[in-house]
Amino acid sequence: MQAVLNYLDKHEAKFVERLCEYVRFPSVSAQPQHKKDLAACAEWMVNECREAGLETELCPTSGNPIILARTPRRGGTRPHFLVYGHYDVQPAEPFDLWKSPPFEPRIEGRALFGRGASDNKGQHFAHLKAVEAYLKTGTELPCDLTFVIEGEEEVGSESLAEFLKQRQSDLRCDAIVISDNGIPDKEHPALTYALRGIFAMEIEVQGPSRDLHSGIYGGSVENPAMALSQLLAQLRDKNGRIAIPGFYDDIVALSAYERKQLARLPHSDAAYRKFLGVPALFGEKGYTSVERRSARPTLEINGLTSGYQGDGSKTIIPAWARAKLTLRLVPNQKPEKIRKLVEKRIRELAPPTVRIKITSGHGGDPYLFSPTGVEAQAALRALKKSFGREPVLMREGGSIPIVNNFKRQLGAETLLLGLALPDDNPHSPNEKFDLDCFAAGMRLGAYLWPELAADAKPSKKIH
Ligand code: BES
Ligand code: MN
Repeated sequence: MQAVLNYLDKHEAKFVERLCEYVRFPSVSAQPQHKKDLAACAEWMVNECREAGLETELCPTSGNPIILARTPRRGGTRPHFLVYGHYDVQPAEPFDLWKSPPFEPRIEGRALFGRGASDNKGQHFAHLKAVEAYLKTGTELPCDLTFVIEGEEEVGSESLAEFLKQRQSDLRCDAIVISDNGIPDKEHPALTYALRGIFAMEIEVQGPSRDLHSGIYGGSVENPAMALSQLLAQLRDKNGRIAIPGFYDDIVALSAYERKQLARLPHSDAAYRKFLGVPALFGEKGYTSVERRSARPTLEINGLTSGYQGDGSKTIIPAWARAKLTLRLVPNQKPEKIRKLVEKRIRELAPPTVRIKITSGHGGDPYLFSPTGVEAQAALRALKKSFGREPVLMREGGSIPIVNNFKRQLGAETLLLGLALPDDNPHSPNEKFDLDCFAAGMRLGAYLWPELAADAKPSKKIH
């Protein structure tokens, strides 16, 4: 183990440079013009995995390629763990809010700035380097490992879901490890035992067949932007509850014990409010901020478009108005059932003066697992060793829908071991990854495997 840690220490500067190279690819999965950049990024990663000593395949899919990289197999029935990450990133817009260009990584103090640095390139790169350290120092790994690095996480992981079906027998494993989430601060490493689910949709309100003069026609035809605004406004009540009949029916209430534990997590509403730049916090009545952002469902407008957006004014009644929505779901809400309820309510609320078109997007179930099992306990020990601090248990508000496919298709639970800090700005301008978290992540990737393998039952799985 010491050899592994020394290797990581010694090569840290080089690894940071390599991470900068990785971040340089504008691998934005939502934007078709970046298709080539995703392919180039995947090839770069294949090379990186091979250089680390992994047997690596670049697997084409109908979307972006998936990288599969395996430690050399030694036969027998050693436990098998999977490490998941994604090389695709969110769009970097609006560019003008970045202090330096999003795909020209910049290091300032202990922060590496760039789109994707934290979500998720830096986080899974730490695991890769830890395994490289084992392989390069000739330190025996107590288990078999497979890295699965995909390029469509930010757009719903469709190709990976299909890939899991095809490669189920290769990928069957004892547990999956993912670092694609956060921790409260550097002093509080965390095991995340729950993620929210998600359901995305678009609503288009169609009015007149073209934009109309608002003076000549105004007052005699419905304004689609107004109709959409009124409709959306009725989807949430003044207590911050979602006003859709049946929406809360399947939710498993938080136990008094869990609420007590969540209340112990390091958090200050005042600091949180200031950090977010809002005049006051908002949320569902009866719940704390920590609960609202991780253990309660939401309905958010992600985008709202209609009418004239240019300089000055233009007196029109727009022909249409559109909204992009996502709902975050908690155990045991099901995206498909929620979709039906939301659609039904929108149609009920729509006035007869406009046409409504609803398009459903991606969806994913919420995730919850018990942190009392042996794998979770092993992860907690590794967190403590690598961060030098007692870890906490937490829920996250974000979604990684593929974890449910892992459970269904590979029969294994996912350990969520985040390395992101609350001010990493994922999906926002000036995303960064903290280099102390990178170093701790590499140490975590060193300590984790002996801890996990020690407790894993002898594997009967073929891999
Ligand atoms: N890394 C995030 C998910 C995340 C962030 C989990 C913070 C926990 C805490 C991931 O890359 C992401 O952004 N996922 C999307 C999923 C969606 C596009 C299906 C999300 O949560 O919006
Ligand atoms: Mn993301």
